[in-house]
Amino acid sequence: MTVISERFSAHNSFLYFPYLGRLSMSPASFLVCLAAAVAAAQGMTLMEEIANAGSTTLVELLKSTGLDKAVDSGYLTVFAPTNDAFTNLPDNLTQTITGNATILNAVLSFHATSAIFRAQDAVPNMLIETLLKESKIRVNVYDDNAGGSIVAVNGARVIKADIPASNGLLHVIDRVIFPPAGSFYDLVAMSDVHKELKRIIDSVNYKSVLEGHVGTFFAPTDDAFKSFGAMLTARGVDFNGNDVATKEFIDYHMLDSVVYSIGAKTGMYNTWDHGESLGVMMNANGTAKINQANVILGDIPATNGVMHVIDSVLIPEPYASSIVIG
Ligand SMILES: *[C@@H]1O[C@H](CO)[C@@H](O)[C@H](O)[C@H]1NC(C)=O
Ligand SMILES: *[C@@H]1O[C@H](CO)[C@@H](O)[C@H](O)[C@H]1NC(C)=O
Ligand SMILES: *[C@@H]1O[C@H](CO)[C@@H](O)[C@H](O)[C@H]1NC(C)=O
Repeated sequence: MTVISERFSAHNSFLYFPYLGRLSMSPASFLVCLAAAVAAAQGMTLMEEIANAGSTTLVELLKSTGLDKAVDSGYLTVFAPTNDAFTNLPDNLTQTITGNATILNAVLSFHATSAIFRAQDAVPNMLIETLLKESKIRVNVYDDNAGGSIVAVNGARVIKADIPASNGLLHVIDRVIFPPAGSFYDLVAMSDVHKELKRIIDSVNYKSVLEGHVGTFFAPTDDAFKSFGAMLTARGVDFNGNDVATKEFIDYHMLDSVVYSIGAKTGMYNTWDHGESLGVMMNANGTAKINQANVILGDIPATNGVMHVIDSVLIPEPYASSIVIG
């Protein structure tokens, strides 16, 4: 069982790497922003403000790629991960990012936009174009349980907002963010642990639903389907060829809202389409359960929301009473 909030835990990075390997590596040049550069006003530049905010790892990475000069010659909104955010990446992932200039450039480009984004303008599910071509940041706004709200960008919490610089605006975030590698369907299709899920989705021609529906998708692993299948066999139940039931099962794995771990709370969440709900349990130790299933890898960004990998198949209400969950 893995901590949902430590989404790229070393323990589970094997699941993540297939996704990273398929990042679309077409970083728009920072130079594009030069055209939009405005005369520097008074005050500290973005690079100075990033350092001033304590994000010195980001400063070093930008300098190592030569992007520091580009940042200060543009007019940008920058999302600066804290030093801890970089430290918390597993070694593996840190090596992959820092050891390859193309990947590093892409990841860094995903942390900046030539648009002006202020935290007060945050609206759930607004998409922000980034300097990484065709890759957008999804904004979410969640309750903070204290009467306020949390602004999140691709699941990273904005912890210091709207720091003005002479050539843009800076937000400090608590995680390194990654561009979505595709839709829910693409993520499932490119993974080595969702072969059965893909087969089932394809069997009812559900690709377009998994590409078009904006929300949260809980993706059971092949192991989850293995135990599920054994359980059905033991009870003499067979859903093969029953398209209505199959679609209902898939729908039951989707929420109608985009719930990253930073915004997840214990309680009931509406599923997509059938007026049913899923029980979410956020444990104090950082683990999470969806009904009876454990989240084993959380917060995988998709172009149409967020995907969490779970270790058990979720069973919708009409079938739950006939299939006792062991
Ligand atoms: C990265 O981590 C995975 C899973 O822990 C491991 O199988 C792989 O060998 C590691 N790769 C490197 C380069 O360390
Ligand atoms: C860097 O990563 C890109 C994208 O994955 C890959 O095409 C390229 O071969 C890598 N370069 C090196 C030197 O490994
Ligand atoms: C986390 O807490 C839950 C609920 O108390 C417990 O069932 C689970 O075993 C704990 N997991 C770990 C890894 O400590």
